[in-house]
Amino acid sequence: MKGLILSGGKGSRLYPLTYTSAKQLVPVANKPVLFRVIEAVRDAGITDIGIVVGIDDNARQVREAVGRGNRWGVKVTFIPQEAPLGLAHAVKISRDFLGDDRFVMFLGDNVIQGGISELISQFAHSNWNSQIVLTRVERPEQYGVAVLGEDGSVVRLIEKPKDPPSDLALVGIYMFDHHIFEAVNAIKPSWRGELEITDAIQWLVDHGYSVHPYIHRGWWIDTGRPDDMLNANDKVLEELKHEIRGFVDKESRVSDNVTIEEGAEVINSVIRGPTIIGEKTRIVNSYVGPFTSIYHHCVIENSEIEHCIVLEHSVIEDIPARIADSLIGRYVELRRSPYKPKAYKLTLGDHSKVGIL
Ligand code: TTP
Repeated sequence: MKGLILSGGKGSRLYPLTYTSAKQLVPVANKPVLFRVIEAVRDAGITDIGIVVGIDDNARQVREAVGRGNRWGVKVTFIPQEAPLGLAHAVKISRDFLGDDRFVMFLGDNVIQGGISELISQFAHSNWNSQIVLTRVERPEQYGVAVLGEDGSVVRLIEKPKDPPSDLALVGIYMFDHHIFEAVNAIKPSWRGELEITDAIQWLVDHGYSVHPYIHRGWWIDTGRPDDMLNANDKVLEELKHEIRGFVDKESRVSDNVTIEEGAEVINSVIRGPTIIGEKTRIVNSYVGPFTSIYHHCVIENSEIEHCIVLEHSVIEDIPARIADSLIGRYVELRRSPYKPKAYKLTLGDHSKVGIL
């Protein structure tokens, strides 16, 4: 089997972070979501992986970060998509890479508990034309929803139904054989101008192809919005095997479920896990509370922070109130300003969101 990972898209719900960086490169528990997806595919025994990317600077960053895949022992082929014209469009343009092989398509911004080995092995040993992954959700009206027939197979897919006929939502992992190309070539763009994967799967069902559901029982998070990113970070931090590889001085208190990466320093501070502190980051006279990921080369000094993701090279100094529930980008400086006039002094990108006490 082959793997197809989707890492294009606009990521507009994560602006301003995604103006300058691909959302799939945002780290969850200090590892980019995309790397977690590559590992999940590799751990399921798939080593031939295509990655769909855009043609902008974010795509260049993805190509640079992933390279040829040697780090994971896989072979990566990049497939440029001229615009985010839909998940089924991404399948369509990947025809040369995929050939007639069965494949798994995994959205590069999704995080799933427990990996995908079991569902891949089920599909690989079956003669189904497709397998889709479903999970029970509380608000099915916000998802693509599947209706199953009496024999348990998929009979209908509905995008964001007002009156949901089931609570089984589509997770961003799909398995297909080559018949999917007939479907993606037959369907037309939806009202939002995209070739929808739900339409392609419905086409398979309507033309007598077998689409088998796999019900996933652990957690699954689509990291489309900042809250989802924080939520995914919480879940992964909770399951991480924690380890101290950096330096913690005698004055500091660090709980068991904390990871301190190489070259990081914790000076006269309190760190409560689950939390991860990245390489060469310095935490000085500060409190870092549960569910926080501080990435590499950051400084947190004389400040308190919890339930946050902070990206690389950011500095937080002398902030008088606790920072919480925040997603802070790269090279951000958050400091108390000693200069008059006494005022909030902000340089914020488009679509930034600031909550003031
Ligand atoms: P979405 O989250 O549906 O779209 P998006 O990334 O453009 O985000 P937003 O809605 O916030 O603007 O995409 C799901 C995944 O699929 C994501 O990893 C991006 C990828 N994708 C492609 O690679 N090509 C596409 O044409 C689309 C629509 C998405």
